[in-house]
Amino acid sequence: MSVRIVLGAQFGDEAKGKIADFLAASARHVVRSAGGPNTGHTIVLPEGPVVLHQLACGVLRHGVTGISGPGMVLQPFKLEEEIQGLKDRGLLRGEIVLSDRAHVLLPIHEVEDAWQDDLRARQRPEASLGTTKSGIGPAYADRASRFGIRLAELSRPAVLRERLELLYATKTHLAGLPSIDELAARLSEVGGRLAPFIRPTEPLLWDAIARGENVLLEGAQSALLDLDFGTYPYVTSSHPTSAGALVGSGIPPTELDSVVGVAKSYCTRVGAGPFPTEEAGERGEYLRRVGGERGATTGRPRRCGWLDLVLLRYVARLNGLTSLAITKVDVLGGLPEVPVAVAYRMPDGSTLRDGPPTHADELAAAEPVYEQRPGWPEFHERLKERIRREGAAALPAELRRYLAFIEDEVGVPVEYVGYGAHRDETVWLGPPGTRRRPVAIAAWNG
Ligand code: GDP
Ligand code: IMO
Ligand code: MG
Repeated sequence: MSVRIVLGAQFGDEAKGKIADFLAASARHVVRSAGGPNTGHTIVLPEGPVVLHQLACGVLRHGVTGISGPGMVLQPFKLEEEIQGLKDRGLLRGEIVLSDRAHVLLPIHEVEDAWQDDLRARQRPEASLGTTKSGIGPAYADRASRFGIRLAELSRPAVLRERLELLYATKTHLAGLPSIDELAARLSEVGGRLAPFIRPTEPLLWDAIARGENVLLEGAQSALLDLDFGTYPYVTSSHPTSAGALVGSGIPPTELDSVVGVAKSYCTRVGAGPFPTEEAGERGEYLRRVGGERGATTGRPRRCGWLDLVLLRYVARLNGLTSLAITKVDVLGGLPEVPVAVAYRMPDGSTLRDGPPTHADELAAAEPVYEQRPGWPEFHERLKERIRREGAAALPAELRRYLAFIEDEVGVPVEYVGYGAHRDETVWLGPPGTRRRPVAIAAWNG
């Protein structure tokens, strides 16, 4: 039995969906505990690519449950489309469960999200966050202010109506909202259609753990977009950390076995906010083109740059990472050298190694200190074939040295490597405990 968390260790889009899907092969339940329609997790199946937004990747596997957990904010109309899209393609193979405690993200939250980001931009162009405009901030704010509506309320028309009236009383600054009558009617209808999936999920998970079944918590967004520990205010409105995954699923910390942090072999960010290793010029364009770096939810081009070990050390410590999954190593294949940021030089002459400064503008002013690592060969089909046949032993020696370098610098073993977008293009390096370096999260802190 194990309870395992997979989470994003950079700024999102690290290929968490692909790694979670790989691990879901040995899980009985996969749980999303935060976020909502801002998420885009791509899994490339033999039938073609699937992008999941509000469903956990367990729904793609026979015998596995995909749980959208209590910590999520769910947009019910988009959710219904997502379910229908999978059904139409014959890809809905697992069971869908939606927590009755998850909050409802309403179309009025989408309007409010756009209104808020416009307001920021009008104040100062750099203040715009570049949110996904999917209503996340306002939905979580209403949850925290106790104006929210939960999935459980969709099947209680009188309560739903009362809650909507109260919520609308807080939205007098917004224009063009649907009438309460219209929204209440649409919500009751969609609630009726989703009702078979809605139930309490905490007892389901507690019983599963008691029976010895494997539970995987599929993180969305990323630790560096965490509301408290990310690059505030350029963050999302949930807690995409390991602690947040437990809060958002109702699983007690004492049940947790391992935490896998997923990081690309380089780094990307979509939306505004500091990104010290960003390559704004030709080199960034190269990474964007070869890595296919375009947002899975919004289609926006992602900002691209190099792996940042200062941020990764911080994330390792913050989340108690027990291992790393390093993805998209094929994208860097063929480069003579691969830059990696090992420290920051700050404007006052000081050096930072173990974590970012608190203020976003200070992080933006950090100058990365790079170490150039030797590159590895291109990932042509013959090499991929050998890795599929022989496993990790077939990874190029230079790449293995790059991975060992990350392990040494971060103090966390690399357990998985992603070398292509397809479902089967992930290789396991063996159990972390049996390799060269034991888990030693505090080691780098002196
Ligand atoms: P997530 O949000 O963390 O699940 O990541 P996204 O799905 O938003 O973005 C990851 C992108 O990289 C998707 O287009 C994946 O299909 C693709 N991808 C995942 N792993 C790999 C890999 O190892 N190599 C390459 N070349 N592409 C990958
Ligand atoms: P996955 O799960 C990348 C970013 C947005 C914006 C900030 C706030 O696919 O990795 P929000 O709409 O959440 O209020 O936007 O967070 N963001 C993501 N970036 N991947 C994501 O999800 C993201 N979810 C939110 O671009 O900068
Ligand atoms: Mg994504």
